Amino acid sequence: MAEIIVTTRAGKDITLAAKPGLSVMEIIRDGGVDELLALCGGCCSCATCHVYVDPAFAAATGKAGADEDDLLDSSDHKQAGSRLSCQIPFTAALDGLKVTIAPED
Ligand code: FES
Repeated sequence: MAEIIVTTRAGKDITLAAKPGLSVMEIIRDGGVDELLALCGGCCSCATCHVYVDPAFAAATGKAGADEDDLLDSSDHKQAGSRLSCQIPFTAALDGLKVTIAPED
């Protein structure tokens, strides 16, 4: 089983089983990490699923789309590696992906 490693706001690393076909947000939410609010359910309209992708996975996850990037601009915590986790489809190529949950806006 593939997995991802999520660092919480408190700095705790949590390893979650990850299934291709789900978004990274769904994997984190379904894994019980409730500090990732994902309020809009993955429609790219709330930015409460903001994470920082580990630089080692930047190429594999790709760049944010235009709508996603606009929404990230509304965050005070946007930085290199910022992505909305609902916009990252999990694939086998992302096995071992590391993301950190961004501070709440
Ligand atoms: S869950 Fe709302 S933008 Fe990702």
